[in-house]
Amino acid sequence: LPRYLPAYFGGRDIFVITDSTVRTLYGVSLTHDLTKAGYGVWLLDIPAGERSKTPAVVQTLQNILLSAGIRRNSLIIALGGGVVGDVAGFVAATILRGVDYIQVPTTLIAQADSSIGGKVGVNHARGKNLIGAFYPPRAVFTDPEVIKTLPRSEFRNGLAEILKIALALDPRLFSWLERNRLKLRVPNVRQLTTLIRRAVNVKAKVVQQDERDVGARQVLNLGHTVAHALEKSTDHKIPHGAAVAIGIAVESEISVRMGVMWTRERVRLMRLMRELRLPVNMPPISNSSAFLRALSLDKKGIGRNVRFVLPRGIGRASTCEVPPRLITEVLGQPKAHK
Ligand SMILES: NC(=O)c1ccc[n+]([C@@H]2O[C@H](COP(=O)([O-])OP(=O)(O)OC[C@H]3O[C@@H](n4cnc5c(N)ncnc54)[C@H](O)[C@@H]3O)[C@@H](O)[C@H]2O)c1
Ligand SMILES: [Zn+2]
Repeated sequence: LPRYLPAYFGGRDIFVITDSTVRTLYGVSLTHDLTKAGYGVWLLDIPAGERSKTPAVVQTLQNILLSAGIRRNSLIIALGGGVVGDVAGFVAATILRGVDYIQVPTTLIAQADSSIGGKVGVNHARGKNLIGAFYPPRAVFTDPEVIKTLPRSEFRNGLAEILKIALALDPRLFSWLERNRLKLRVPNVRQLTTLIRRAVNVKAKVVQQDERDVGARQVLNLGHTVAHALEKSTDHKIPHGAAVAIGIAVESEISVRMGVMWTRERVRLMRLMRELRLPVNMPPISNSSAFLRALSLDKKGIGRNVRFVLPRGIGRASTCEVPPRLITEVLGQPKAHK
C-alpha cells in the first residue's frame, strides 16, 4: 500500500478503520508502514463481528474522526472483512458529506463480494442493512495472501457468497467451482487469486449495469431473504455467509416447488454445497411465526406474498412472489430433494 498510494492519494492524512482482530494481524504493521512513508496515520478499531454493524458504532467513529480533525481531503482505509467495509464505507459516505475511502478487504467475503459495488451501511433493530448508502471506494486493494490467517469457517462463508454469484449469474463459474471443489478445501494463493478474480469480474459487470440495485443487480440478493431473516431472528448468532448458504438451499427448494427450477439442477447444486462443506439445513426455529415476520419485514418484501430472488437454474435467477404457505411448507420439510 505505501508503494501504490502516492500515485492516487499523495500527501493526505489517513484514518485506518479496522476491527479488533485484524488490527493485531495487519492494522498495526500497515499503520507503521504508512507512517514510515510519511503519512499522518490514525488507527481506529471496532469490536470484531456483525454486532458492530450499528448506527451507534458509526456515531462513535464519527466522534473520534471529528475530534482527530478529519478533513475533506483525508483518506479512510477500510481494512477488514465485510463488517469493517460496510461500516467504514458508511462513515466515509456521511462524514463531512463524504470523504474518499479505499477498501482493503481481508476476508473471502470481502475480497470476492462486499468490497465491490459500493453498498455500505449498518443494521437496524428492524432488520439488516436498513441504514446505508451507495458510495463506491476510490480503489480496492486485494491481497489473497491475507486469507491464510482466516479461520476455515470464515473461508466457507466466503465460498457461500461466491456460490451465490455463480448460481445467480454465471454457469461457467459454477462449473469451475465444481471442478476445483476439492482444491478449494485448502487452496493455494494461485487458486485463490483465480477464484476471487472470477467472482469479482462477474459482480463488477452486473454492478456496472445497475449500480443502484433496481434491476439486473437484484439477482445477487439470491439466498438473502431467508439469510437476513435467519440472522435477525437468531440475533446474528449465525454468520452472514452461513445464513446465505442455508438461504440458497431453502430458496432453491422453493424454486423447485414453484416449478421454476428442475429437480436435477437442485440436486447438482446441493451436491456442490455439500462438497464445499457449506451448511444446508435450517437450524431449529423455535418460533416460526417470528421468523416469517422477519421475512416479510425484509426490505425486499412487499404486500402479503414474500418477494424472493429465486434460482431458475444454474447461472440464472429472477424475482418471484412466494405465498407464505409455500414457505412454511418448505421450512417444515427442509430435507426434501437433496
Ligand atoms: N456491501 C456488500 O455488498 C456486502 C456483500 C456481502 C456481504 N456484506 C456484509 O459483510 C458482512 C460479512 O462479512 P465477513 O464475513 O467478512 O464478516 P467480518 O467482517 O465480521 O469478518 C469475519 C471475521 O473474520 C475476522 N477476520 C477478518 N480478516 C481476517 C484475516 N485475514 N485473518 C483472520 N481473521 C480475519 C474478523 O475479525 C471477523 O471476526 C455482513 O455484514 C454482510 O452483510 C456486504
Ligand atoms: Zn451477502
